[in-house]
Amino acid sequence: MDRIIVEGGRRLSGEVRIGGAKNAALPILVSSLLTDGWNTYENVPRLQDVRSIQLLLGHLGAAVEDSEDGVIRIDATGLSDPEAPYDLVRKMRASILVLGPLVARLRRARVSLPGGCAIGARPIDLHLKGLAQLGADIDLRHGYVEARADRLRGADIYFDIPTVTGTENLMMAAALADGRTLLRNVAREPEVSALADTLNAMGAKISGAGTSMITIDGVEALRPARTRIMPDRIESGTFMVAASLTKGDVTLVDCEPDHLGATIDKLRLVGSQIEINGRTVRVRGPEAISSVDIKTLPYPGFPTDMQAQFMVLMSIAGGLSVISETIFENRFIHVEELKRLGADITISGNTAVVRGRARLSGAPVMATDLRASASLILAGLVAEGVTEVNRVYHLDRGYESIEKKFSALGAAIRRVS
Ligand code: EPZ
Repeated sequence: MDRIIVEGGRRLSGEVRIGGAKNAALPILVSSLLTDGWNTYENVPRLQDVRSIQLLLGHLGAAVEDSEDGVIRIDATGLSDPEAPYDLVRKMRASILVLGPLVARLRRARVSLPGGCAIGARPIDLHLKGLAQLGADIDLRHGYVEARADRLRGADIYFDIPTVTGTENLMMAAALADGRTLLRNVAREPEVSALADTLNAMGAKISGAGTSMITIDGVEALRPARTRIMPDRIESGTFMVAASLTKGDVTLVDCEPDHLGATIDKLRLVGSQIEINGRTVRVRGPEAISSVDIKTLPYPGFPTDMQAQFMVLMSIAGGLSVISETIFENRFIHVEELKRLGADITISGNTAVVRGRARLSGAPVMATDLRASASLILAGLVAEGVTEVNRVYHLDRGYESIEKKFSALGAAIRRVS
């Protein structure tokens, strides 16, 4: 298992190019199932999760070409097997995204239940409720979802919770249903809008993405399209926190500031200077970090995927910060590891109180989930001495060669196999 070794104390400076968004690439690659012919995807990040979804699509019968330079082509003409097996789905829960497209295209699907993960139970009840409202018969048997539908019919669907992949699953299924579907109280994340743009380029009739209600008028068939994956707003936020932590001066290139509203607002309150110039954002860290409260919320609120990273910043801030995690029930796993580095954090339910300390001290720590792993690297950048982050395969799922990018910015960081 790879480990990453970080020596704290370096100021980060220079330019970092932001890669394609993992959480946009996954549903958009899956949308290839909805049509015959070669779809082309550009600026696809080279991540473990992207490789996993390519494996799954290939297993289902799609032809996948990965030119290894960020361009992937997929042709689902040969789509034949409607089954997404447990050994593939358990590696990545976003595999559940194939359920809607398989029912829409093959009239049936057998997808392993994704099961929970480190940050929470991660149920899919809203995915299944919506699919049933579109006319699918759903059974849960032997750990699998079995869905059948002679023809999907448009429906008026309300989500109890604005679920990101639930919205994406139903949007893809409804694109080929008979008639009009209304999706209400949907997720407004930029990744949902990016998927809607791709589906419309394929001939779908979708409006309202990015608002809390999406209207989809089903069509007979879709056609292949070409998509460039949008920049990753969480990778962007991670580097902005890194610059803020280390009194650095870092310029993000190829990012999308419009997707970073809540993160930019909070970092400015922390004292960071942030200059936006088109798709370039320059972040200069403050001499003294101010404590700021955050509460994670569905987009456009503060992203839950930035909570762990922001907690590191608060652990060396000048006062008391209250961090509330409202999206996932168990997303404070990184807290115990940060406390090993000297952070002063008290948890009460879904709230963590962080008392800023003058400094952290390096130690061996364990990564547990994707964003928690990133927060341990960030802590290592400012902890005195050496921090060794173990189980970095979690990191590789969502960050493309993160240690190379940090090293290019001046960090003393290396990967040890
Ligand atoms: C997406 O997960 C992201 N993953 C997550 O990013 C992200 O943290 C999350 O949205 C929230 O923004 C992808 O896009 C691949 P949800 P998703 O359904 O869709 C509850 C990362 O690090 N819920 O929006 O699984 C659920 O329990 C990952 O890149 C139900 O109750 O999240 C949670 O409390 C981690 N029933 C809340 O909704 C359902 O049927 C939001 O979950 C579905 C969800």
